[in-house]
Amino acid sequence: MQAMECQCRVMMKKAMNINIKKGGDDFFNNRLFSYLSKELDANILGIKQLRGNVYLVDTKTSRFILKGYRDIRKLKIQEAFTSSLRKSGFAHSYSFYIQPKLTLYFQNEYYGCIEYIEPHETAFHYKHEYDRDEGIELLNKFHEKTIGLAPSYTSLIPKTDLVRKWQQRRIEFTKNLTQINYFISKELTRDLLEWADFSLQGFIGKRKILETDSPAILHGDVAHHNFLRSKEGKLYLIDFDLITTGSRAYDMVQYANRILPFLEWKLESLANIKHLNNWLNNEAFLYGLLYPADILREWNRLLREGQNSNPFRTAPIVEMTVSQFQQRKQFQEDVKSRLK
Ligand SMILES: Nc1ncnc2c1ncn2[C@@H]1O[C@H](COP(=O)(O)OP(=O)(O)O)[C@@H](O)[C@H]1O
Ligand SMILES: [Mg+2]
Repeated sequence: MQAMECQCRVMMKKAMNINIKKGGDDFFNNRLFSYLSKELDANILGIKQLRGNVYLVDTKTSRFILKGYRDIRKLKIQEAFTSSLRKSGFAHSYSFYIQPKLTLYFQNEYYGCIEYIEPHETAFHYKHEYDRDEGIELLNKFHEKTIGLAPSYTSLIPKTDLVRKWQQRRIEFTKNLTQINYFISKELTRDLLEWADFSLQGFIGKRKILETDSPAILHGDVAHHNFLRSKEGKLYLIDFDLITTGSRAYDMVQYANRILPFLEWKLESLANIKHLNNWLNNEAFLYGLLYPADILREWNRLLREGQNSNPFRTAPIVEMTVSQFQQRKQFQEDVKSRLK
């Protein structure tokens, strides 16, 4: 009887394994499935890869997110930070489920289990004005709370170093230039590099004015996919892998850079957005706005991933570089005239 039950369980597991919805490597997912079933002592029904090291796990009784980290310290910081954030009164993010005696370690990654937020059918996107407005409101609320948390985290997380990041991005872009010029003209890349240099030089000269602010913990990656609208309509901020400490201007300049393509690069439109308008009198912030962060990032990523022969990947990047170029040029002029 026992043997039969055992055999039955094996068969069920096999059947379940076949049902896993795969995003990547089947073999890896099947082994992860077996590992979790054993370690969590749970009746796991399915694992679906959402992205990279992020999986959605269904058990008979619950649903949670599993996220992998190379470095256990990084996972511990995520667990501590999301818990501190919740305790500070910020209710717009998730917590990790922490089991003190259990560390999930599988194929060189440490895994954390995260509360699942069921998404709304309409995803958050910067193309919607209401999302842009609610997103900045939430980011501002996040900073208000993290200013209080920053002193406890200064020794655990790095200080923001935007200049270094942007200098590296510029260097990588320059190395990729020959390849990039297969797709876009030399005049255009020359303009982009001029904007980058003008921005960096000005920012380096003025960044001291940002150091008088009380440092906050910055999110560091305010892309639209790190905002999650729940089924009930509540907005969440997720994915704190890139947290650093520093002036909240750094997150704000990144937010502005993310939404500007949807504002047709109009400075007046930025001036109408709460929590961004007050930064438009800050010279460091204005220099920061001039850095073509998005274009340089996307070309570098394309080439790093060796995808430059893939038309499905190159076309949208060519389009983002070329289609709004005149608007961006005008934006450079408008910001510069505020700097005088
Ligand atoms: N707690 C969660 N609930 C629901 N979906 C989530 C959750 N965490 C992550 N996701 C989904 O998985 C995606 C990737 O997760 P994220 O933590 O942002 O990983 P990455 O570091 O790869 O960007 C998110 O954009 C979101 O769609
Ligand atoms: Mg993310």
